[in-house]
Amino acid sequence: MKSGRGRQWRGCLLALRFLFLFFWGVPGARALDNGLARTPTMGWLHWERFLCNLDCQAEPESCISEHLFMQMAELMVSDGWKDAGYEYLCIDDCWMAPERDPEGRLQADPQRFPGGIRRLADYVHSKGLKLGIYADVGNKTCAGYPGSFGHYDTDAQTFADWGVDLLKFDGCHCDSVKHLIEGYQYMSLALNRTGRSIVYSCEWPLYMWPFHKPNYTKIRTYCNHWRNSADIYDSWESIKSILAWTSSNQEKIVDVAGPGGWNDPDMLVIGNFGLSWNQQVTQMALWAIMAAPLIMSNDLRHISPQAKSLLQNKDVIAINQDPLGKQGYLLRKESSIEVWERPLSNLSWAVAVMNLQEIGGPCYYTIAVASLGRGIACNPACLITQLLPEKRKLGFYTWTSSIKTRVNPTGTVLLQLGGTSKTTSH
Ligand code: GLA
Repeated sequence: MKSGRGRQWRGCLLALRFLFLFFWGVPGARALDNGLARTPTMGWLHWERFLCNLDCQAEPESCISEHLFMQMAELMVSDGWKDAGYEYLCIDDCWMAPERDPEGRLQADPQRFPGGIRRLADYVHSKGLKLGIYADVGNKTCAGYPGSFGHYDTDAQTFADWGVDLLKFDGCHCDSVKHLIEGYQYMSLALNRTGRSIVYSCEWPLYMWPFHKPNYTKIRTYCNHWRNSADIYDSWESIKSILAWTSSNQEKIVDVAGPGGWNDPDMLVIGNFGLSWNQQVTQMALWAIMAAPLIMSNDLRHISPQAKSLLQNKDVIAINQDPLGKQGYLLRKESSIEVWERPLSNLSWAVAVMNLQEIGGPCYYTIAVASLGRGIACNPACLITQLLPEKRKLGFYTWTSSIKTRVNPTGTVLLQLGGTSKTTSH
């Protein structure tokens, strides 16, 4: 029989855990007050996979055209992407005609988007999805199309009139840092003034870093997410460098993330050519730990069932979308093993064990349970479930026990400690 004292003690422990998470969970910085991106944005963006392909004669299936977006919209619905949470279908650079219209408004390239953006937005909305578009704070976009400098109000209003739901605002071709900072702020206010709900995706800190340390508290009050590091490529080198950048700057960026504002390590490239299966698992696991926007750039017409099931993994998406909205961090690095962790709601934690070794076979790595989740994750005991590379209930662990993982080279084992979410209980 359990003693009254034991029960009291456990009650106290539970209360302490609540208090700890409550105070630790109070976001330090105010988020952009547009009510959007309360959890990281999920969707699809053309850039990494389709770049600035303008040649619809030679490559009608992969040039940047309304045809491409209409096909992706259909697939997002028919192939379960929308049901999994991927909602925003986003256009990147190279959609514009080379000149503004006679009224000074941006216009889509008439050959590649004969129906215009308004009609495309209607189509996307008819599928229950949302449409994202791209513009630039400077004089030109990165690919050389008209920039928004001097036209912020007009462009914000044009996007709102078209029914756009997200703006990715790039930072190429700015004359000065002042221009960059003021432009990003101005556009945020201009979007708000339109009265339409438009997610505001910035690259402000990425373009600031070469000059001085970005003011993240301020950025969070203007943007729903912000890119920090260089453009993602379809390669393991690229994934590694984004993760290395993130962990080496985590003191500056982790605490600022929360409902309404997120660090953006760039697109998911799962389902393309450059990553092995283990590396794709690593990207999915770590993007969940980082509370990153899950914005895929791949070809939904040609994607392997394995990549699709990874991208649609409900348990991992639930970690990414956890309502507590706290970004995870690198807890420990021991030779080629990195242990990352993220606090979740329901007093649960996600833990990722990544093996950076690129020689040899799987690595066995043992972790003391007490060293995870600031000592409170599994105290006095918890159920541990492995979610990636495949789902496996590992059973009950006590605070004094340790957990042995087996991690493939360049792969990751993603664990969930505790938690009562429906997706982990079967
Ligand atoms: C920059 C951005 C990319 C993409 C391209 C488009 O490099 O960082 O994500 O939008 O511009 O030209």
